[in-house]
Amino acid sequence: MEKTQAYIESNKQRFLEELFELLRIPSVSADPAFKGDVKRAAAAVAESLRKAGAEGVQVHETAGHPIVYGQKILHPSLPTVLVYGHYDVQPADPVDLWHSPPFEPTIKKTDIHPDGAIFARGSCDDKGQVFMQIKAFESLMATGELPCNVKFMIEGEEEVGSTNLGVFCRNNKELLACDMVLVSDTSIIANDVPSITVGLRGLSYVEVEVTGPNRDLHSGVYGGAVANPVNVLTRMIASLHDENGHITIPGFYDDVAVVSPEERRKMNQAPYDEGEYMKDLGINGLMGEKGYTTLERTSIRPTLDVNGIWGGYIGEGAKTVLPSKAFAKISMRLVPHQHSEKITQLFTDHFKKIAPPGVQVKVHPHHGGEPVVTPTDTAEYQAGHRAMAKTFGKEPLPQRSGGSIPIVALFEEVLGVKSVLMGFGLDSDSIHSPDEHFGLFNYYKGIETIPYFFKYYAELKK
Ligand code: BES
Ligand code: MN
Ligand code: MN
Repeated sequence: MEKTQAYIESNKQRFLEELFELLRIPSVSADPAFKGDVKRAAAAVAESLRKAGAEGVQVHETAGHPIVYGQKILHPSLPTVLVYGHYDVQPADPVDLWHSPPFEPTIKKTDIHPDGAIFARGSCDDKGQVFMQIKAFESLMATGELPCNVKFMIEGEEEVGSTNLGVFCRNNKELLACDMVLVSDTSIIANDVPSITVGLRGLSYVEVEVTGPNRDLHSGVYGGAVANPVNVLTRMIASLHDENGHITIPGFYDDVAVVSPEERRKMNQAPYDEGEYMKDLGINGLMGEKGYTTLERTSIRPTLDVNGIWGGYIGEGAKTVLPSKAFAKISMRLVPHQHSEKITQLFTDHFKKIAPPGVQVKVHPHHGGEPVVTPTDTAEYQAGHRAMAKTFGKEPLPQRSGGSIPIVALFEEVLGVKSVLMGFGLDSDSIHSPDEHFGLFNYYKGIETIPYFFKYYAELKK
């Protein structure tokens, strides 16, 4: 890999400039106003794959946003790695809270990134990490050191639930046939504490609508006599947790896998500074399910959170009104062996049941996804372990993450292969938030590490 590493070293500046070009395209998948930009981003990813040396590069149209595919098959006898990532991004809102424009990448130093970080929407999640993969591949191709077959599938709907990607996978099993999937869309514990993600939570996401009277009412004339949907909704939501932080939906925990005391002990040995964690977030206390540590609460335990809530008058000044309707968006993060559809149903039944007289409740399910745990006793995990040990000079720790990548469970189901979740971001990189950033250290460390991954994987599969 010497030639590859030398190639990377001498092309660092260009690798950064090319990433900047992609970051300037506002490929927000959730908002139809950006449909053209999403398409442009797909074309840009396809072009960068072609330039890197991929063959059969194609932008596949779907019922939603396009999927970019490309490959390099050296020889059918060699193992094949499918690289998955996404070029779509979350909306930049609230734009006012950004300190530099979300789609004009800017390099700034931070306490955690003293060498500088790229501030832009998608820098870490996931354009920067997709680009690490493409640039690692380019470097291997340029030096003739690619040791195995590689396929790329970079989608544009991850942030909206990957609905059309599932269909694409089912319809293109042969095209996507591989020995494993490599995903760089997760984080490491810290820049001096490398880790490989071995678990992702699943997701059930619902929107609820509580309707009271048939119109907004004067809150003096009617207040006190008519159920106020906002009052009712907030009480209903409050009742979803008990005083110990347990979720009260009947059956919610029925399928939750119990993690052994041994595994919990190991998990809690991971370096983690609660004081630093609170300081970074500007809070003076933590809360969550009783009996579990913060690391456990964000990995092996399911959760329920309100992501947004609205209703009534929220304009300037005071308007006295008793609203007709109230709404909330609620996410539930799931762990093995919970099922997204089942949990959504349990939520729906329960939420309707607890509605008091005087209101009507509707529950609209949104996208979901299943949890995954990946094994560590496989050639692919070992390859990731060795690659990170090589470039960080430190053995990576296996760590479960609290986030979700719904398609990973489907890769297992549809393609019959395991994934390695080797991401290079940090949890503190503000993904989905204002001032999202990605460390320069992390970007280049990813580009350096990925070639070793391919090398060790090819060797282990011999
Ligand atoms: N890359 C994230 C998931 C992630 C982040 C995993 C950090 C591990 C560490 C992904 O793009 C994401 O945001 N997923 C969504 C789910 C999707 C259905 C909207 C999520 O977790 O909210
Ligand atoms: Mn992502
Ligand atoms: Mn995301």
